[in-house]
Amino acid sequence: MSPLSVSVLVFCVIFLGCVTTDHLNIGTSVNGQLAYVSNVKMSAIPFKVRVKNVFYTNETSPKVIKGITAIDSLNSKAKATVTAGGVGTTFANIKLKSERGEGLDYQIQIFATVLTLGGDEYAASGVDVGVA
Ligand SMILES: *[C@@H]1O[C@H](CO)[C@@H](O)[C@H](O)[C@H]1NC(C)=O
Repeated sequence: MSPLSVSVLVFCVIFLGCVTTDHLNIGTSVNGQLAYVSNVKMSAIPFKVRVKNVFYTNETSPKVIKGITAIDSLNSKAKATVTAGGVGTTFANIKLKSERGEGLDYQIQIFATVLTLGGDEYAASGVDVGVA
């Protein structure tokens, strides 16, 4: 490949990587109930990247996370990533990162099932235990 076509390719990859909006959508909301909803807003500061960590857990009534969605209401180029826990665990940390000079406006939804130790609901995550 000529140096020109390489740089065109690199440009295309970077361009596509920057333009796509990142809605985070992992796991499934099926079999889970909406356990947590949070609207996260941070105003824009010129030249600054705004970062917000959203931590979810429920100590009083632990739930196994089935799915996480993070919807970017601004349709911006902000990024949402799960940095700890997540699907299959009882906690999650979601890191939201704005574009430089932009704000953040996300809605986070966590779908989960109640964890009852030794109980049916936990076992039922993979297997249908039937009617007790
Ligand atoms: C934990 O779960 C219980 C039962 O579903 C609920 O009432 C409570 O609000 C939850 N707490 C948090 C911090 O989400």
